[in-house]
Amino acid sequence: FEEPVSFHVIKISSFYNHSWERNLGSGWLGDLQTHTWDSKSSTIIFLWPWSRGNFSNEEWMELETLFRIHFIVVSEAIHRRISELAFQYPCEIQLTAGCELHSGKLSGSFLRTAYQGLDYTSFQNNSCVPSPLGGDAAKRACKAFNQDQRNKDEIHHLVSDTCLRFLLGLLDAGKAYLQRQLSCRVKHSSLEGQDIVLYWEHHNSVGLIILAVIVPLLLLIVCLALWFRKRCSH
Ligand SMILES: *[C@@H]1O[C@H](CO)[C@@H](O)[C@H](O)[C@H]1NC(C)=O
Ligand SMILES: *[C@@H]1O[C@H](CO)[C@@H](O)[C@H](O)[C@H]1NC(C)=O
Ligand SMILES: *[C@@H]1O[C@H](CO)[C@@H](O)[C@H](O)[C@H]1NC(C)=O
Repeated sequence: FEEPVSFHVIKISSFYNHSWERNLGSGWLGDLQTHTWDSKSSTIIFLWPWSRGNFSNEEWMELETLFRIHFIVVSEAIHRRISELAFQYPCEIQLTAGCELHSGKLSGSFLRTAYQGLDYTSFQNNSCVPSPLGGDAAKRACKAFNQDQRNKDEIHHLVSDTCLRFLLGLLDAGKAYLQRQLSCRVKHSSLEGQDIVLYWEHHNSVGLIILAVIVPLLLLIVCLALWFRKRCSH
C-alpha cells in the first residue's frame, strides 16, 4: 500500500418522505471495501477474514451498538428538524469519517457531511465547522453540535485514537493478503468516471490470464494446421 494509508467509513442516507428512508454504510481501507453495514439486521458485515483487525468481539459489539444509536438518533433528528436544517424531501445526506496513517503515525483525521452532494459541515480541530455552501442552516447545526463537549470528545476519540488503532491492527491482520496483491485500476468511458479497482493474487491470476490467452491460441493453431493438411492432401 502506498502511504498515506487511510481507513474511512461512508454513510449515504436517502430520505424520501417523513416516514421513508434508506441507509447505506460501508468501511474502506484505501480503495478496498472491507465492511458493509447490514441495515436489516443492524450489524456489521466483515467482507474479508481479516476485516476484524485485532479488535475483540466485545469491542465490535460496542461499535455496532454505537453505530445503531447513531443511525437512529441522526435519522430521527433529521426527520424532526428537516426545515430547520434547510433540507427538503427527497434528499440525500452523505457522511464520511476516518483517519490517515503516515510512517506509523496519525497524519490526519476527518469527518465531513454533505447535503445533495454539496459540502455541509466538517469536523476540524475538535469542532464542527459549517461549509459556506451550507448557509445559515449549517451554521446553526454546528453551533448546536459544538455546545455539547461530550459529543465533540467522543467524535474526536473515534476518528483519531480508535480509527488509528483499528487501522494499524487491520494492516497487520491483512498483511499476508495485501502483500500478495498487484491491483489494477480500470478506467473506461462507459464507467462514467467511476474507476473499477481489481485486486488479484499475483501468481494465480497472471497464470490464469496466460492460460486464458495461450490455450485458445494453441487450439486455433492446431485447428489451422489440421485444416491446411486436409486441404493439401486433397
Ligand atoms: C414515502 O415514500 C415511499 C417511497 O417512495 C412511498 O412508498 C410511501 O407511500 C411514502 N409515504 C408517504 C406517507 O408519503
Ligand atoms: C485548535 O483549537 C485550540 C483550542 O481551541 C486552539 O488553541 C488552536 O489554535 C486551534 N488550532 C487550529 C489549527 O485551529
Ligand atoms: C491492535 O494493534 C494496534 C497496533 O499494533 C495496537 O496499538 C492495539 O493495542 C492492538 N489491540 C487493540 C485491541 O486495539
